[in-house]
Amino acid sequence: MKVYIKTYGCQMNERDSDAMASQLEACGHTIVFTEEEADVLLFNTCSVRDAAERKAKGKIGYMKKLKAQKPGLIIGVAGCMAQRLGDQLLAELPHLDFVLGTGQLHTLPEKLAEIAATRARFSATEPSFDVLTGMGGHFSHTWHAEIAITRGCNRFCSYCIVPYVRGREISRSISDVVEEARELVANGVKEILLLGQNVAAFGLNGDTRPPAPGYSPFADLLDELDKIDGLLRIRYTSPYVSYFNDRLIETLARAKKVCHNIHLPLQSGSDRILKEMNRQYTRDSYLAKVAELRSAIPDITFSTDVIVGFPGETDADFALTREVMNQVDYAQSFVFKYSPRPGAKSAERQDSVPEEVKEERNQILLADLAARVEKRLAGMYQKTVEVLVEGVSPRNPERWSGRTGTNIMVHFEPDDKIQAGTLRQVKIIQTNPVSLFGKLAD
Ligand code: SAH
Ligand code: SF4
Ligand code: F3S
Repeated sequence: MKVYIKTYGCQMNERDSDAMASQLEACGHTIVFTEEEADVLLFNTCSVRDAAERKAKGKIGYMKKLKAQKPGLIIGVAGCMAQRLGDQLLAELPHLDFVLGTGQLHTLPEKLAEIAATRARFSATEPSFDVLTGMGGHFSHTWHAEIAITRGCNRFCSYCIVPYVRGREISRSISDVVEEARELVANGVKEILLLGQNVAAFGLNGDTRPPAPGYSPFADLLDELDKIDGLLRIRYTSPYVSYFNDRLIETLARAKKVCHNIHLPLQSGSDRILKEMNRQYTRDSYLAKVAELRSAIPDITFSTDVIVGFPGETDADFALTREVMNQVDYAQSFVFKYSPRPGAKSAERQDSVPEEVKEERNQILLADLAARVEKRLAGMYQKTVEVLVEGVSPRNPERWSGRTGTNIMVHFEPDDKIQAGTLRQVKIIQTNPVSLFGKLAD
């Protein structure tokens, strides 16, 4: 059959879609890239904010038209919204054929065969650990690949739906991950991005206490991956701040391939709000960790996630968030307007901050980010940096672009030997508020 997959949500969902595509291909199906040519439409969905669910539901609802023209069309919903709503989705959307929860993704090929034969609608949302081993295939083949090293989350931040829809945290073994990485590198991959809701909890068997000094299975994994010949860069997202102990920091500073960039979710800069969010750190302990990382790895850059408008967030709480953000000087930040998620603890409280205030706080943080980025980029004028070449610039076909290890994009004019997935030296010759332009210097 011809299968079209549309993905919503985070990189982990993208990774799951890629693994499902690879499974389907291995079973003789073809992946197509337009809805019109498909026999099966699969929507891999997200639940993290209400807007994410509304977007997917709107799209799936709209597919009713296509099904009316093509009655044999099979429509399925997978992923986090599928897990959260299950049967309810079948009831709400009469043209929907199946619902596949986050623990059942690896069963897609057999489920498709069943539904093609019987046309019986179903919803499968039982948790299963088999999904961990069944989702290692890769459909896309470029210089970049992603590896899921953990699934699920045990932290239960009060606003967050993820632990409910992705289930308990489980880790793969070091040997399993290293084997997948070696195979990818043998097939031309140069950069690997490790994925997990809290990658630094890798190998801790679901224990929510940060590891003891001297102990970090995540650092052990990085050490092993660092040894792979032919691999140029290792990235990871997201780690939880409290898990950066001496062992991990020492590894990050020493490892040759691990990039000097950390996505370190802050969520709020107010201790009162952090406590209500059930985040297990304070403003001071977060800032102390950032200082420790900066002293071990002087060129490190940080990015972050914050939520504005958590129930009860005052102007004073928001001012604290803003202050921490400017102090850490994040190179990138993602600001989310609080969205109550039914089932998550904070949804029991009134969503008290008005939408306009959330939007105003969002705009303030975006403007602060733009100012910081402009300053950082201006400071790179005349410097020579190493980039991993990504390919032709999306907006200007005469230029190519690449990224520094610190995750800053650089555009430049190509030479004859330019090739995606190689490391090149670029001297920055021009900066503007949002981008860097350079000249190949090797
Ligand atoms: N595991 C990651 C986060 C995954 S969800 C971590 O702990 O950092 C990605 C981001 O969505 C979160 O960092 C948070 O900022 C945001 N988010 C999660 N739930 C939300 C909610 N109910 N409303 C608004 N933003 C939310
Ligand atoms: Fe959600 Fe917190 Fe788990 Fe991240 S660590 S996925 S924010 S519960
Ligand atoms: Fe990711 Fe959304 Fe699920 S952020 S884990 S796809 S709820």
